[in-house]
Amino acid sequence: MFDLTGKVALITGSTRGIGLAIAENFAKQGAKVVISSRKAEECEKVTARLQAAGHQALSVPCDVGKHDQQKRLVETVLAQWGRIDSLVCNAATNTNFGPMGKASDEAYDKIMSVNVKSVWQLTSLVIPQMAARKDGTVIIVGSIAGLQGNPLLGLYGVGKAALFSMVRNLAAEWGPSNIRVNAIAPGLVKTDFAKALWENDALRAAREAATPLRRIGDPDDIGGIAVMLAARAGAFMTGQVLVADGGVTII
Ligand SMILES: NC(=O)c1ccc[n+]([C@@H]2O[C@H](COP(=O)([O-])OP(=O)(O)OC[C@H]3O[C@@H](n4cnc5c(N)ncnc54)[C@H](OP(=O)(O)O)[C@@H]3O)[C@@H](O)[C@H]2O)c1
Repeated sequence: MFDLTGKVALITGSTRGIGLAIAENFAKQGAKVVISSRKAEECEKVTARLQAAGHQALSVPCDVGKHDQQKRLVETVLAQWGRIDSLVCNAATNTNFGPMGKASDEAYDKIMSVNVKSVWQLTSLVIPQMAARKDGTVIIVGSIAGLQGNPLLGLYGVGKAALFSMVRNLAAEWGPSNIRVNAIAPGLVKTDFAKALWENDALRAAREAATPLRRIGDPDDIGGIAVMLAARAGAFMTGQVLVADGGVTII
């Protein structure tokens, strides 16, 4: 049910954190994984590590905020491996921490460009070749910030909420071609991205106390869900947002 043998998976932002956990878990299930981020050196390091562990991995650097680099990414993978069975849009940025009214136009544009527009562009580049085979999965990494109000992560949340609408619309458009499109909405996960929120002992303790499972997330908590969504186990799910947050949004 969870086997991904021979599947080609392209995961953006896969040199560390949640993207890396998704790539590692896909590789353990037999997928051929494309490791991608802005830094070529990091992509190569992770790729070499996965290959040394016996997995098939390909390093293709790409800044998802740049359309020419996205095109090159997709073309390189198709030239090398001939197909993309699973696209994981994971790379994201946060340019504003604080009230939305105080954010600059540049901060707004960058969030929308890197976190939202890039996903629309990448899915437009990748899904048609999946549809031609009537098989493919897209997984978009959102956030619970796209489901809840937050006085400090407002703009970021607006972008993540837009992704949840994109997931439903893509699922509706491409469902007849057997393309499944889903999102994962993580709560606080221990990665560099959220360091400011979990390195501070007081903030972390408050977050753990407010979370039914009494802990913050580990990147593998998200990696396993992505495997399920890409594999046979998730074959009847599309257009959904799966929350993985230790229960913090239910109380
Ligand atoms: N950590 C959390 O608590 C949390 C909670 C909810 C949702 N999320 C979401 O989870 C996803 C991954 O976050 P993370 O916590 O794993 O972050 P992370 O540990 O900082 O990793 C981010 C990854 O994305 C890459 N990246 C950043 N900007 C990029 C760009 N413009 N183009 C291509 N790659 C880029 C980074 O590599 P380079 O720097 O080399 O480009 C790195 O590989 C994001 O969508 C984030 O919004 C995280």
